[in-house]
Amino acid sequence: MNRLKGKKIIVGITGGIAAYKIPLLIRYLVKEGAEVQVVMSDFAKAFVTPLTLSTVSGKPVLSSFFDEKNGEWNSHVDLGLWADAIIVAPLTANTMAKMAVGIADNLLTTTILSARCPVFYAPTMDLDMFYHAVTQENIKKLKKLGYIYIPPDEGDLASGLKGAGRLKEPEELANILIDFFSKKKTLSGKRVLISAGPTYEPIDPVRFIGNRSSGKMGIALAHAFIELGAVVDLVIGPVAFPVKEKDNLNLYFVETAAQMDLKCSELFPKSDVAVMAAAVSDFTPKNPAKSKIKKETSFPQIELVPTVDILAKLGKIKKSNQILIGFALETDNELNNARHKLKRKNLDMIVMNSLKDFGAGFGVDTNKVTLIFKDNNEIEIPLNSKEMIAQEIVGEIKKMIKS
Ligand code: CTP
Repeated sequence: MNRLKGKKIIVGITGGIAAYKIPLLIRYLVKEGAEVQVVMSDFAKAFVTPLTLSTVSGKPVLSSFFDEKNGEWNSHVDLGLWADAIIVAPLTANTMAKMAVGIADNLLTTTILSARCPVFYAPTMDLDMFYHAVTQENIKKLKKLGYIYIPPDEGDLASGLKGAGRLKEPEELANILIDFFSKKKTLSGKRVLISAGPTYEPIDPVRFIGNRSSGKMGIALAHAFIELGAVVDLVIGPVAFPVKEKDNLNLYFVETAAQMDLKCSELFPKSDVAVMAAAVSDFTPKNPAKSKIKKETSFPQIELVPTVDILAKLGKIKKSNQILIGFALETDNELNNARHKLKRKNLDMIVMNSLKDFGAGFGVDTNKVTLIFKDNNEIEIPLNSKEMIAQEIVGEIKKMIKS
């Protein structure tokens, strides 16, 4: 109990039949110590009365920009700043579409636009509306914007149809918020750019120059950052397994070093931290053949040209409030090579792994690394799963953000 003590939560209600579940949600939140402010759309009042909601929340319900009786202004900006979290449930297709394009035509949509806190959204509607391409697109769009998706349950719908579209039960909704606040989201509000995986440089339409990188280390890092509340932009080369979608994870699939450079350069200016974990090809064929090279024709000579060193490029434009981390996979003279790379590319830290170490490097699920910092400090992290190593690395980066 009291797991939400001191938390200020806006419960946004839009006009769907599932609004009947919200008074119970508010009771759970209040019981856990939260201060709850209801902001509802006019249409929602047809499904649940403001009197019920103000009684359970202990606060007058807000729905318009000013109080019609005394003309008092309900400031959406103040509300947006006041809240530690906003949950919009039920969320109609209509309000979700407005949120996706930034329409601010009532107190709720305006408050969401001014909010600096996490916004949870629970779309609930009839089956066909839910599966409509526009609705699915809007769900994705909101995820990309960093909103936290609460998917509907499957079951009997008010229309008599069966399928996805049911709002989760009030206790489950309350638990989502409790879980969220119980983890220390020390990196919430931070944006992290990660590059991962190999790049493929085309020789002809069939063949390419590539490497053995699996992308696993970069993905583990993305998950470790998200756990702490950051929003991650993951730019990932061709990997052999499907990369799962996740809240707060924006995925960008690329193939060549040039494409990876383009995407990373575009995203870097709005990143607080960038970790370049990709094994970018250092060379690319100068003139990839337009059609498949046949062995009957002459023995092919492939002329290579260097690719852009993305990490070095970001190091040149890095601002003082940005943190830039690189990786170094070495086979010989490891520490010295890594130290040299750290300086040459203007990094804050470099993660060195040696192919000589058993269980480290490409294709395996484990790693063993040495972290080298720009103040020459070094930390060795012994052999462990890539997930555990990622947590250690993110732990060190977190310290740098604070200081
Ligand atoms: N990197 C990059 N763009 C490239 C090559 C490398 O962003 N074109 C990044 C990698 O993601 C990694 C770091 O640079 O974070 C080190 O890559 P590595 O290949 O070990 O170093 P290089 O600078 O290419 O030096 P060398 O291959 O000579 O060791």
